[in-house]
Amino acid sequence: MEAKTPAESRTILTDLVLPGETNPLNNLFGGELLARMDRAGSIAARRHSRRIVVTASVNHVAFNHMVPLGSVVTVEAKLSRAFNTSMEVVIDVWIEDRESGKRTKANEAIYTFVAVNETGRPVHVPPIIPETNLEKERYEAALRRKQLSLVLAGKMKPAEATELKAIFQ
Ligand SMILES: CC(C)(COP(=O)(O)OP(=O)(O)OC[C@H]1O[C@@H](n2cnc3c(N)ncnc32)[C@H](O)[C@@H]1OP(=O)(O)O)[C@@H](O)C(=O)NCCC(=O)NCCS
Repeated sequence: MEAKTPAESRTILTDLVLPGETNPLNNLFGGELLARMDRAGSIAARRHSRRIVVTASVNHVAFNHMVPLGSVVTVEAKLSRAFNTSMEVVIDVWIEDRESGKRTKANEAIYTFVAVNETGRPVHVPPIIPETNLEKERYEAALRRKQLSLVLAGKMKPAEATELKAIFQ
């Protein structure tokens, strides 16, 4: 399979925060943001693999800033690494000031998607070649995050998580 770049998977979803999507403080409900990130991430994974993709895990989410009612929210998703059948997607969330248009990073998340065939069995995905320094950093770290996620899910023994253990030594 021919290798692709992270840029080829880049997906941007921009939408408003409407009243039905907020919590009692009139800020965006966390579950709504998770859904928006899942949507953008799955499109990025689909663009890379050109396959049906399913969400395998949410590896990291940080809700750093409240997102007020009426905000314009941009969710930007890009593949950081492709493994055999799984793909890690890094998702950045931005809100923009109504008057100045200045963008502020509000949240970020890392999801793992798996490419599957019509019967739901995992299938191979193309390799990825990171280009920018940030893409290269995210590519390197992705293996450690995959190992951590598998250990937490009980799918890998801690002793086998070689690259993850190395950062504590
Ligand atoms: C995700 C799913 C396809 C994995 O199936 P599986 O039988 O565990 O398949 P495998 O063990 O071969 O794993 C497939 C890949 O997923 C990765 N994976 C599985 N669980 C993972 C986890 N918790 N974190 C990170 N990666 C994970 C594996 O490492 C493997 O990656 P690789 O092939 O790139 O090395 C399967 O569990 C599934 O269909 N889950 C439901 C998905 C879904 O419905 N999502 C929406 C939630 S409502």
